Amino acid sequence: MKPQIIKGNRYFNQDCIQGSRKNIDDDSIDLIITDPPYGIDGDKLHRHYNRDEDYIVDGYVEIPADEYAEFSHQWIKQAERILKPGGSIYIVSGYTNLYHILDALRNTDLEEINHIIWKYNFGVYTQKKYISSHYHILFYQKPGTERTFNLYSRYGHNERDKQGGSLNYQDREDVWIINREYKPGRKKNKNELPKALLTKILQYSSNPGDLVCDLFMGGFSTAEAAVGLKRKFVGFEVSESIFNSGIERIKKVKEGSLIKTLRKPKHSKPRNQNKPWTDDEKNRLKKRYQELLSEYKYKKNIVKKLCEEFGRGKFGIQRMIKQLT
Ligand SMILES: C[S@@+](CC[C@H](N)C(=O)[O-])C[C@H]1O[C@@H](n2cnc3c(N)ncnc32)[C@H](O)[C@@H]1O
Repeated sequence: MKPQIIKGNRYFNQDCIQGSRKNIDDDSIDLIITDPPYGIDGDKLHRHYNRDEDYIVDGYVEIPADEYAEFSHQWIKQAERILKPGGSIYIVSGYTNLYHILDALRNTDLEEINHIIWKYNFGVYTQKKYISSHYHILFYQKPGTERTFNLYSRYGHNERDKQGGSLNYQDREDVWIINREYKPGRKKNKNELPKALLTKILQYSSNPGDLVCDLFMGGFSTAEAAVGLKRKFVGFEVSESIFNSGIERIKKVKEGSLIKTLRKPKHSKPRNQNKPWTDDEKNRLKKRYQELLSEYKYKKNIVKKLCEEFGRGKFGIQRMIKQLT
């Protein structure tokens, strides 16, 4: 089956297991962000959420519960094959079938990086138990080369909140509180992922020009965020009606249009960067390094501490330690 090609990006109205097998090369994708059907009667999900059905795009293809394990094994095998070494994959999952996804992942060579909890608003209302208001996001990588992780893409090293807490640290904690988007009167897909969540993943785990893939496109929200951030894109959606509605949506997205909406991190230069090292400073560094060796298990933590104490960058500190020891 031929894809729809829009601005060089490929969109397949096809089952992602067969489709990726035929159309996507080994080791070719930089980042996969995907949100498979949940295997919990998802074609009726909107009733739980009291949504107005007029605004939900029909045609959601669900996976029967007894096929979910095998289905997960098959698509995750393809995901592993198409990822580049060092490439990242983020899988959004509910709780019910999370164990099948974990089992499938553990049958690959993909490596676990983080288990992220995404807390959202509009959880299913209950009276006799707690309200479920989170999803799981499994962040894995294909081993091989260094993974892209743009540490300062959203918050600079020294940016602080009013209480003095590091904004960079807070943004990288593994519980993300991100609201779903409320779009009254606009047609949307069931379970559409918010732009803020997709943008965050794209900023940390890819660069402009990288090839991003979503195996279960639904409302094309991953495609929209990726194209908006000038990434290249390829994706699959098996439902014809959902695919057609997504194609209309993506045609309107301008490449790079989201870049100007991003917060600009403030980068402050370490206070002594590029200044020549004095003999006194070198002696202090050597002494302090020896002291920290007994305090810290990992060298990277020692370097981090020395950067703060000496007001110098990581490479400057590493180079000087090498010279002095
Ligand atoms: C949870 S939704 C994805 C929602 C999407 N992340 C969004 O933000 O709109 C899962 C989608 O996968 C589609 N789907 C189900 N089985 C599929 C398969 N084998 N290949 C490709 N798409 C499939 C469903 O029709 C549904 O649209």
